[in-house]
Amino acid sequence: MIRRKGNIFRLETPSTTLVIKADTAEYLYYGKKLASGGGFEALYGSPRKLFSQYGGTDYSESSVLVENTDGGMSTAFAFSKCKIWAEKPETEGLPSSYGEGKTLELKYTDAAAKVSFFLYYTVFEDSDVIAVSSKLYNGAKKELYIRRLASVQLDLFGKYSFVTFEGDWARERQKVVRSVGRGIFYNDSKKGISSHERNPFVMAEGEDGVYAVNLVYSGNHKELMECCESGRVRLLSGINDFMFRWKLSPGETFTAPEAVICYAPTEDEASLRMHAFVSEHIVRGKWKKKERPVLVNNWEGTYFGFDRERILKIAAAAKEAGAELFVLDDGWFGKRDDDTSSLGDWYDNEVKTGGGLASLADAVRAMGLDFGIWVEPEMISEDSDLYRAHPNFAMKVPGREPTRMRNQLCLNLADEKVQNYVVRVISDVIARSGASYVKWDYNRAVTDPFGKNVPQGEYFHRYILGYYRIASKITKKFPFVLFEGCAGGGGRFDLGSLCYFQQYWTSDDTDARERLKIQSGTSYGYPQTAMGAHVSACPNHQTGDGNPLETRFNVACGGTLGYEMDLSVLSDEEKRTVARQIAFYKEHRKLLQFGDFYRLGEAFGENIAGFMTVSKDKNTAIAVVCASKQVIGGELPYVRFKGLNPSAVYEVTAREQSNYRSAPSFTAGGDVLMGGIPLRDIYEDTEKTQYGGRLYSRLYILKKCKA
Ligand code: GLA
Repeated sequence: MIRRKGNIFRLETPSTTLVIKADTAEYLYYGKKLASGGGFEALYGSPRKLFSQYGGTDYSESSVLVENTDGGMSTAFAFSKCKIWAEKPETEGLPSSYGEGKTLELKYTDAAAKVSFFLYYTVFEDSDVIAVSSKLYNGAKKELYIRRLASVQLDLFGKYSFVTFEGDWARERQKVVRSVGRGIFYNDSKKGISSHERNPFVMAEGEDGVYAVNLVYSGNHKELMECCESGRVRLLSGINDFMFRWKLSPGETFTAPEAVICYAPTEDEASLRMHAFVSEHIVRGKWKKKERPVLVNNWEGTYFGFDRERILKIAAAAKEAGAELFVLDDGWFGKRDDDTSSLGDWYDNEVKTGGGLASLADAVRAMGLDFGIWVEPEMISEDSDLYRAHPNFAMKVPGREPTRMRNQLCLNLADEKVQNYVVRVISDVIARSGASYVKWDYNRAVTDPFGKNVPQGEYFHRYILGYYRIASKITKKFPFVLFEGCAGGGGRFDLGSLCYFQQYWTSDDTDARERLKIQSGTSYGYPQTAMGAHVSACPNHQTGDGNPLETRFNVACGGTLGYEMDLSVLSDEEKRTVARQIAFYKEHRKLLQFGDFYRLGEAFGENIAGFMTVSKDKNTAIAVVCASKQVIGGELPYVRFKGLNPSAVYEVTAREQSNYRSAPSFTAGGDVLMGGIPLRDIYEDTEKTQYGGRLYSRLYILKKCKA
């Protein structure tokens, strides 16, 4: 809801209030919902600004910075007008949130330079968040250059921690907490993609609660927190200004990516709101609310070394186990037997597919499974027919040896010809295979940003616009297909990508112990339906560690379930275990995929960690609890359940697991469970893995007892 009184706008979600004074571009209040209806005069002259510009006395980092039409770098944007839209206006050329949401438009103009700056605040009541975006319009007769246009600014007062999600390949989104003293703290990517290293989702956590911010963008981003001498803590988020210089010709508009903000009293609440926002206003299409299929992917089972017979054997075992979808990963096209060739040659490898992709896909479907396919649309191998025919399709600086990663180069997506080629050939792969699922991979970062006729300062953004154009065209052509994004694991796990791909491969690290951390970190900003989570072979291919099959499954229940292994080589007992797991997952899939998701314990540093999902009516829940090690003679493993009805009594039953002799069952009040109970039986695991210390894990089903 948006209420207006003169120049004061009160934006309300069910539990938060944002009060904006439009004429002075300040916000008077943002936080817990205000019960009183007015009396904001006491806050006039607030040092909290909606945006900041260079040229006045604010020497902190500015949100807007332009080389102006008058040749200088100072601006003087002053209030010109405002408007309330009944519906959210479209964000041109960029992915953004959608759905019902009243929107406040504010316009500020630099009269001398004839440049206007617009801000949009959309209230999404159902998810308790506000989406913010901005744009610049050049009304002058001369061009200007944008050097920075942050999507959102929040000015806070008090002591805050800057919470970020950082890592690397196979170690994505580990939670990092920095307390913000005087100075400037950055979280950014210069890799051309949102990156494994630093996700655009960040939080400012203070005594008054949590301010969470995410960006609907997949390219170079930058979030900063600056604590200045007055004690004001400024949080900015937007396109990274690293190498950024965008020419805005007369009459042109530049739109910055959208950001989403929420205030919540706790981290758990902030996550629930972000999850609701992503599920309702970012993820699109037929699969938005549909239960996601249990898949089997051959990658770690075969890598590049497969033929038709091997694939059909794995598919048969997948069907036998109860899986619903088989995904053929890398290696089915061109002459692709390793990672040195063929990216770009999206025609069938007749030998490996044994008669072509369509016939292999048909054979899989004849078994009663859906068929899914892996592609890596945005890349090119130098050893490919595509490169031999169009070397200029590759991104590289003329006359200079390009930097190679995984023996491949990026395509120059800033070029429309290249975009059109990709759309054509990838659409053809999907059409001819009849795939109902596509894994869309991206296995290296940008190193030689260059495109003929593209100014360097515009390259990174134009590159991402190219990615969006391709993704938009292909996903629109195939509305029934479930798309799972991937970037060497979770290197482009962001809201921009999730506007096209309903789920994302969370990480190439499928070791349960590591996955628990990666999924936990990811879950701060993203819902569990977005997280691809697979059970893989033991010992784990990334870490070499071993974990019981049941532990691997329990942890994978924290996302959309798959098996990333050759199921045909399992022992009969293991096959029975997998079949029981899949049946269990399907039975509880709605709750697991769409319930309210909470983290349990602390995956970053403590012995007990896990997660739980709770039905909206709080009558049922599933909790996965893991213990990193058995502390001999130490503290009992306590777990505090979350999200339950405190006055209800629950029957708590452990899932029958092949590595535990018994499956205990007990009843307890919701308040008792949330207060914390000891879980002694977690150490009764009978599996003696030969690969070192295992992650102990049990899964509990909670059902409200009849009154
Ligand atoms: C990336 C993905 C993997 C797999 C390989 C194939 O690393 O993250 O899951 O698809 O590429 O080359």
